[in-house]
Amino acid sequence: MSCFCWSKKSTKESEKKTTHVNTNKPNHQVNTNGNVKKEFGVKKELGVKKEEAMKDDQLSLDVKELKIIEGSNDGKTAGKRAQTFTFAELAAATGNFRSDCFVGEGGFGKVYKGYLEKINQDVAIKQLDRNGCQGLREFVVEVLTLSLADHPNLVKLLGFCAEGEQRLLVYEYMPLGSLENHLHGLSPGSKVLDWNTRMKIAAGAARGLEYLHEKMQPPVIYRDLKCSNILLGEGYHPKLSDFGLAKVGPSGDKTHVSTRVMGTYGYCAPDYAMTGQLTFKSDVYSFGVVLLELITGRKAIDNTKPVREQNLVAWARPMFRDRKKFSLMVDPLLQGQYPVRGLYQALAIAAMCVQEQPNMRPVITDIVTALHYLASQKYDPRTDPGQTSKRGPSSPRLKSDDDITQIGGDRPERD
Ligand SMILES: Nc1ncnc2c1ncn2[C@@H]1O[C@H](COP(=O)(O)OP(=O)(O)O)[C@@H](O)[C@H]1O
Ligand SMILES: [Mg+2]
Repeated sequence: MSCFCWSKKSTKESEKKTTHVNTNKPNHQVNTNGNVKKEFGVKKELGVKKEEAMKDDQLSLDVKELKIIEGSNDGKTAGKRAQTFTFAELAAATGNFRSDCFVGEGGFGKVYKGYLEKINQDVAIKQLDRNGCQGLREFVVEVLTLSLADHPNLVKLLGFCAEGEQRLLVYEYMPLGSLENHLHGLSPGSKVLDWNTRMKIAAGAARGLEYLHEKMQPPVIYRDLKCSNILLGEGYHPKLSDFGLAKVGPSGDKTHVSTRVMGTYGYCAPDYAMTGQLTFKSDVYSFGVVLLELITGRKAIDNTKPVREQNLVAWARPMFRDRKKFSLMVDPLLQGQYPVRGLYQALAIAAMCVQEQPNMRPVITDIVTALHYLASQKYDPRTDPGQTSKRGPSSPRLKSDDDITQIGGDRPERD
């Protein structure tokens, strides 16, 4: 979960003001993955009543829905709605939140693996840290968004517990953990993600985002796309998780939603960080950062690197303009095992997504089409040694091949 803080005076007007005046003084929060999360220009204020917490979010329009869910104490799901669990059930599922059931910790609190007898299923249980800076509002938004959403590339919320002071979320358990762990947290000797798996993960994550942007009613801006929120199931099937920062997208003629700037440093679109104007293209930028991480194996922000390489996008941008540099960008852990054309095309998509101007970034549906094609072109290192500039089989032209020239780059090789 990303860092969330509630400002009591956060009417829509004050939200706007806060983002405009104070975007350069982020608060930092480090989770167990070593991620630095920042929230920009947001006052900390804890102990907010639930009603207050709901008041200012567009998703609170659907709060009635939540009340229906909370009211259904029979523990049965109605349609896609999340069911309620008692605290005793969740404590039993995790051996009273035993340390060996602990799987990780984010801004929201600790996550435990458990087995819930009632539904005969392994689950991940996220316990809201009552002393943390994230809050009830995020809990509500998470429940609402995931209750309304249903897609194979979104993690399923099975239920929740809102008993007394306790706030817990119950998700399907994702046995392979997060993409972050596979890309950046590999223990010695563990398997490096191969090229095909990386493209499969990128394509699946894009489909999850497309569902939020294009299929959900009302459409939703995710606001928290990053590697640690892409969870992996059997066969590295990716699902997006953590919807506490989600916002209903602009409606009517509006192109943006004005809001406080929140999210994770390194993934946040520069236009959104500067103006507080959130658009669907803010998510597209974050997606581009994730795609760059998949290609390069580098972190969005890495303070252990020389200054000029610490910010992945800033490091990559000048290299997009020089085709000779493309092979230097790819993750060295792949040991040259990648398709040259595939690399160019993946870089072209990433380059378009992280463009400074939001209107120059593609819409998610075009990204899905391009990545679906890329992921379907299975790379076989035995028959297709990567580092040569051998041409691949004849293939439809990707828009991305053309568009990399828009950012001043050389045109990548194509049939
Ligand atoms: N549904 C899940 N299944 C398996 N592991 C999970 C699940 N949800 C979260 N986790 C693990 O718990 C860690 C903490 O998750 P989270 O609280 O969402 O923080 P963050 O997204 O900042 O890492 C994740 O990095 C992941 O490894
Ligand atoms: Mg998460």
